[in-house]
Amino acid sequence: MDRWILSYDGYDPDAEGLREALCTLGNGYFATRGAAPESSADGVHYPGTYIAGCYDRLPVEMDGLQADNADLVNMPNWLPLAFRPAGGDWFDPDRAHREGRLLSYRQELDLRRGVLTRLVRVRDTRGRTSRVAQRRIVSMDDPHLAALETTIVAEDWSGPIEILSAVDGRVVNAGVERYRNLPQKHLDHEKSLRPSDPELLLLRSTTTSSRIGVAVAARTRVSLPAERTHHAEAGWTGQNLTTDIREGEPVTIEKIAAVFTSRDRAIEEPAQAALAAAACAGGFDALLERHTLAWSRLWRRCQLSVDHIDVQRVLNLHIFHLLQTVSEHSVDLDVGVPARGLHGEAYRGHVFWDELFILPFLTMRFPEIARALLMYRWRRLPEARRAASRAGHRGAMYPWQSAADGREETQRVHLNPRSGRWLPDHSHLQRHVGLTIAHNVWRYYEATGDTGFLAEYGTEIMLEIARFFADLAAYDRSTDRYGIHGVMGPDEYHDAYPERDTPGLDDNAYTNVLTVWVLRRALDALTALPEDRRAELRERLALTREEITRFEDVARKMYVPFHDGVISQFDGYADLAELDWARYRERYGDIRRLDRILEAEGDSTNRYKASKQADVLMLFYVLSPGELDDILRELGYEHGPALAARTIDYYLPRTCDGSTLSSLVHAWILAHTDGETAWRIFLESLFSDITDAQQGTTPEGVHLGAMAGTVDLVQRCHAGITTRGGTLNVAPRLPSAIGELRLGLRYRGHWGIDLTCRQDLIRVALRPGTTSPIRIRYGDEDVEIHPGTSWESPLQHGRSPQTPTGL
Ligand code: BGC
Repeated sequence: MDRWILSYDGYDPDAEGLREALCTLGNGYFATRGAAPESSADGVHYPGTYIAGCYDRLPVEMDGLQADNADLVNMPNWLPLAFRPAGGDWFDPDRAHREGRLLSYRQELDLRRGVLTRLVRVRDTRGRTSRVAQRRIVSMDDPHLAALETTIVAEDWSGPIEILSAVDGRVVNAGVERYRNLPQKHLDHEKSLRPSDPELLLLRSTTTSSRIGVAVAARTRVSLPAERTHHAEAGWTGQNLTTDIREGEPVTIEKIAAVFTSRDRAIEEPAQAALAAAACAGGFDALLERHTLAWSRLWRRCQLSVDHIDVQRVLNLHIFHLLQTVSEHSVDLDVGVPARGLHGEAYRGHVFWDELFILPFLTMRFPEIARALLMYRWRRLPEARRAASRAGHRGAMYPWQSAADGREETQRVHLNPRSGRWLPDHSHLQRHVGLTIAHNVWRYYEATGDTGFLAEYGTEIMLEIARFFADLAAYDRSTDRYGIHGVMGPDEYHDAYPERDTPGLDDNAYTNVLTVWVLRRALDALTALPEDRRAELRERLALTREEITRFEDVARKMYVPFHDGVISQFDGYADLAELDWARYRERYGDIRRLDRILEAEGDSTNRYKASKQADVLMLFYVLSPGELDDILRELGYEHGPALAARTIDYYLPRTCDGSTLSSLVHAWILAHTDGETAWRIFLESLFSDITDAQQGTTPEGVHLGAMAGTVDLVQRCHAGITTRGGTLNVAPRLPSAIGELRLGLRYRGHWGIDLTCRQDLIRVALRPGTTSPIRIRYGDEDVEIHPGTSWESPLQHGRSPQTPTGL
């Protein structure tokens, strides 16, 4: 086992979708699934190429309801490359597999270098054996380029061989079974133009309604003299190359693709840009060299190692996919981070609250990417303000699902595949997404000290979100408390009271408590601004003294429901029925999608104390115990470790982890009290994509929140890092399965902080070349470390000074 290699031996049509998703190559600008180059979407294969931020909207009718859906568009496929001995059949792994002619098949994804290799031995129907080695990259050096190199060796034959190289724009968005009956065609194509350079192909397309121009150019070269014939049809352009192959002598075909859109900077027109880039690009080896160098720079910034090779390999895979979705190449693109990466079409490429789990890792490695993701939200403030105003509120109401312009993209009905019924979807009521955004702004500021961002953008986002929640909160004179009604918490299995006609719940504890935190931090952010900027912003936002008083009042008098000595998920939760968990487990085995099971039985999760995912327990994930206790104390409620322990014990067995984010959160919060269980759940979370634990969801796109979240868990929870008050706090809590954890971090402008944690030791070193010393806090010790020096201390178990949660 190698910590940098993900490999598959043998061909397995049933596993192809999963392999395609996990072998996706990308660079933050675009990504292409690891589909076989000779394949098209046929139920086994699903070639998909997605360009960050390129959405298109189509009108749809769902269950008689007129709506529209914005999809991350499946772009023209640059991969197509097929071969056959002239007069024979095109190489087709599925047919060869069925007919026993696929002699060997291996795929290898090299995570360190970002190279996908495929090695095939195949015999054709006339008994001729060929060996094929294919290498593929999507350049991390030049975000517009991708390359495919194919080397064919005729083992026992000689003669003419025909190669087909094409760009296929006839693709549609059909990657998710559940959406298949909805409109899928997002591209219009121009009549295909034949570039003057015979090596080149060009396809020019436009997205149907968003009118984004897309150009894909491809240059194909063969290592032997070849005859070419061009073909074009609507949405497709290709060329056949015929050459003579001699037994045992390799022939190499090199295809370099260039992808541009009309959203790109520093171009005049995408087709011309794509042609120029494809024509001028170096050969495969030259591109590979620069690509590898770019990846080695990224890996240097991502240093995170544990002496547990299985775990390390998956952590590397997760970092790899994260950086293929958002990278330095996405910084300028004005894009958010799609929950399922650029790896498939699940959730239509929409952006949810998952950046909560993604930003912390980026912030301590690539703060510029974290900042860019926050800027995606800042630019959509006007739309969020309009949404709030349409709902009759002040401030900014961010959408639960976001795409191009920040309008609410959540579908209003969804299909339960188990019952075949379309059901109302109220998940847009997850107003807590706005709290996440404000929270992320503050955590980013704490970890980077980026006062410029806070002054120019961050405080405005926080104040507008705080304003929305302060306005949403309703005052009850009889209790002298504020409450927030008609919303949903993170748990999507509760969207209404069983007996009520209108959707939404009252006083979701997570929403209410986080509102208090956000109101306070928004005011802290305002206070942190230089006086003139503060005055400017208050004037611009018309933020009056009365409104600030309202913020303070809501933060002091928010209601938090309790029952049975624990925090209630929402008001009235106590009245719900207990689910007969054993019966459902026995009957169905996997009950993660309990919502679908119950609905198919004519029942509803709304009736039960059964959650899809961590909801109340999210409080212990996003806030440190100190922060949570402060809030509860000041609101006049019980707080402290005993309440935390009871609340955790209460909800864990009542949650079925229907979201991959859930086990991640549970693993985090248990790390402080029950290391063994925490490690077991962490492993479940870690392996959920690589094993497609949710049975069929990963082929539709990876779960980026869980991917980044598991890496972050090792970084912040196991190493125990918090970044409050201008000090880097460390309080390691290594699971017993890990002997040593090493991290290279970036904190407030300090580039090279090396942290080593062992079961018995902690060491922090500051690389030479950093200009100023760094202050760290370990237990009661405040330590200053100077560039080029290090500090270490024995680690005593149980002595860990603060319980580390939250950044
Ligand atoms: C979860 C959400 C999450 C979304 C996208 C859903 O299944 O319930 O919390 O944001 O997936 O990852």
